[in-house]
Amino acid sequence: MNNRFRFLLRTLKRIRKNVAPGFIIGVRLAPEDAPENKGFNIYEIQELVYDLAFSGIDYLHLSTVNFMDSSWYYPGSSLTNLKRISAICPDHIAIVVSGGIIGLEDAEKALEEGATLVALGKMAIANPDWPRQISNPDFVPKSLPLSRSDLASADASEMFIRYLRSYNMVLPGQYEPNESLGLIQV
Ligand SMILES: Cc1cc2nc3c(=O)[nH]c(=O)nc-3n(C[C@H](O)[C@H](O)[C@H](O)COP(=O)(O)O)c2cc1C
Repeated sequence: MNNRFRFLLRTLKRIRKNVAPGFIIGVRLAPEDAPENKGFNIYEIQELVYDLAFSGIDYLHLSTVNFMDSSWYYPGSSLTNLKRISAICPDHIAIVVSGGIIGLEDAEKALEEGATLVALGKMAIANPDWPRQISNPDFVPKSLPLSRSDLASADASEMFIRYLRSYNMVLPGQYEPNESLGLIQV
């Protein structure tokens, strides 16, 4: 694993050396790969986090399917990957998490689990005003999948809407079965 991490760590140190003081540098990582992919596990990522502490980064962005996911590497444990990483991440590195943040309760839960900030993917596309509205108790984020007209009213272009089909974000029946996905061919 050390060999696999070396490129990232060296790159980060070089970036830090060459940017102005105060320039914000972050790293985006998945906390683990799927077991069948035989990529990396949470334990290895935890080891990487120790090294990242000395790499000069300001934030670590954890890209998850769901921020409450626990690890296949520790069967039987419900401790979330977010908690495992936040437990060892030094305080000077902010933790951003994305994955399955839908409403205010999710965001608050993610902060409780150790995130410093939350990030939105699909919810931000469907509800561009989510960050402004979420503290409003009457705000109900649009849930997925969405109609084409809902996505268009969130300023998504036709081409982007076609692309969003590959993320199951568009209601079935809103397009022709053979219609091209646009940028992505699946
Ligand atoms: C349309 C779309 C495009 C995305 N493109 C990328 C990408 O290029 N690189 C990446 O790391 N993640 C990408 N993601 C993943 C998101 O950054 C995010 O991690 C994921 O959607 C989970 O967060 P969510 O549940 O809030 O959507 C994409 C997600 C969506 C919906």
